[in-house]
Amino acid sequence: MARRKKKALDLAAIEVLPRHVAIIMDGNGRWARQRGLPRVAGHRAGAENLRRIINACVEFGVQILTIYAFSTENWDRPESEISGLMKIFTRALDQELDELHDQGVCLHHLGDLNGIDPTLQDKVRRGIEKTKDNNRLILNVAFNYGGRAEILHAVQQILADGIAPEMLTEELFSSYLFTCGLPDPDLVIRTSGELRISNFLIWQAAYAELFATPTYWPDFGREELYDALLEYSHRERRFGALPEST
Ligand code: FPP
Repeated sequence: MARRKKKALDLAAIEVLPRHVAIIMDGNGRWARQRGLPRVAGHRAGAENLRRIINACVEFGVQILTIYAFSTENWDRPESEISGLMKIFTRALDQELDELHDQGVCLHHLGDLNGIDPTLQDKVRRGIEKTKDNNRLILNVAFNYGGRAEILHAVQQILADGIAPEMLTEELFSSYLFTCGLPDPDLVIRTSGELRISNFLIWQAAYAELFATPTYWPDFGREELYDALLEYSHRERRFGALPEST
């Protein structure tokens, strides 16, 4: 297939670049249905698009990209869809890991790895180990992840560590989350027109800017990511305080 020429984008127009972008990649199923295809074809197209978006994040200078790949609630989907998704994740790791590594991508996992197939677990662990010293882009893959489960897990660890209530601060609590050591997301993007946070980074996204688009995930490309970054750069982030002009 002929490659489309990349449109020239004015990166200097993005005055404030979000350091950490998080994406709820929604709409794969509807994208497939519109084309009379099975849902898993939508997920395959979604995986191909993820590759494009990783490239665009590297190009634009985003430092951290967190993607919602599989939630704790996604286990309720039909068995055929779950196994299709697991195959897509496995193939993506097999086919893309070397190139991601060469690109300087550092792979992280958010969620409970133990709940998934041991072969896939092993591939994820090896991917994390292989890329651990890379620093161009941190790619957090939220996989078998739920925000409430993450908070519960943190509380259990805090209790197990015997932390006294008066010692517990927001910073210390954050260090018990899967995102330990990483800054909170600045921008959360949700595709497909849904306006929900869906148990994604519910602690970390407390002050994130939200960008929602009706575009289905497989069609959310480099140029729309650019638009989202540009819109973010014009937002005034107040973190609960008053605007500077007041
Ligand atoms: C939501 O769309 C998407 C998912 C549950 C899976 C996301 C997975 C990918 C994009 C595959 C690539 C990921 C990696 C890590 C290689 P939906 O199925 O809920 O869509 P719908 O709301 O239109 O039905």
